[in-house]
Amino acid sequence: MELEDLAAVFALGERIFTADRWPNLYRTWDEFELIQIFGTDTETCLVAECNDQVVGFALGTLIEKRRSAWTYGYLLWLGVEPDLSRSGVGKRLVNRLTELFIARGARIMLADTESDNLPAVNFFRRQGFTNETEHVYLAKNLTQHPEYVRRRRSLAHPPSSDPSPSDAAPAHLPPGGISPGDDASPGQPHEHDD
Ligand SMILES: CC(C)(COP(=O)(O)OP(=O)(O)OC[C@H]1O[C@@H](n2cnc3c(N)ncnc32)[C@H](O)[C@@H]1OP(=O)(O)O)[C@@H](O)C(=O)NCCC(=O)NCCS
Repeated sequence: MELEDLAAVFALGERIFTADRWPNLYRTWDEFELIQIFGTDTETCLVAECNDQVVGFALGTLIEKRRSAWTYGYLLWLGVEPDLSRSGVGKRLVNRLTELFIARGARIMLADTESDNLPAVNFFRRQGFTNETEHVYLAKNLTQHPEYVRRRRSLAHPPSSDPSPSDAAPAHLPPGGISPGDDASPGQPHEHDD
């Protein structure tokens, strides 16, 4: 992959990794991600071309874990022009990336995708990837956290350098305001997000 390919790879990824198909905060296809990977792992970023057009890409990185003699080759992003689906482009990209990883000392190759992305799961299985493990992502709403509530309150009522009666601490705050470390008691009324 060359510097000049960045725009075409980004545009193809934009069409493939759309928000409705990838409703996931954990992996985001954006220009920063692409530029960062290309900048650090140029030699393991590949494109497939057809008639001088980019029709696929594979972006990989090498991982060396501390206290492990093993080097891993991680296929971060793989995408193929949908019109050319099932014509062997993805397979050729993965085969070439595998060779590059091996040449750089990798003993294990990693790939991941959403468990319901069956085309990709089937594709990876077909390319010899095994040992599937499912990873569970969890989320916690922080807007009820005392620190979140405290910050919201201080933004709504910033301290004034010239206190006047109207600047006095609102009735729902303790005298002197809230200092770091003060937590609202559980069960106390708290602000809700709009
Ligand atoms: C997954 C993807 C890269 C496959 O690329 P491709 O060029 O279509 O794959 P290939 O033509 O090389 O397929 C090789 C084999 O994989 C399997 N395969 C590929 N696509 C498949 C699908 N949609 N359903 C079932 N099996 C599939 C088949 O066994 C296929 O061999 P066959 O066509 O002879 O049966 C492509 O569909 C894609 O870009 N998907 C969207 C992005 C994505 O999910 N990326 C992976 C995670 S980052």
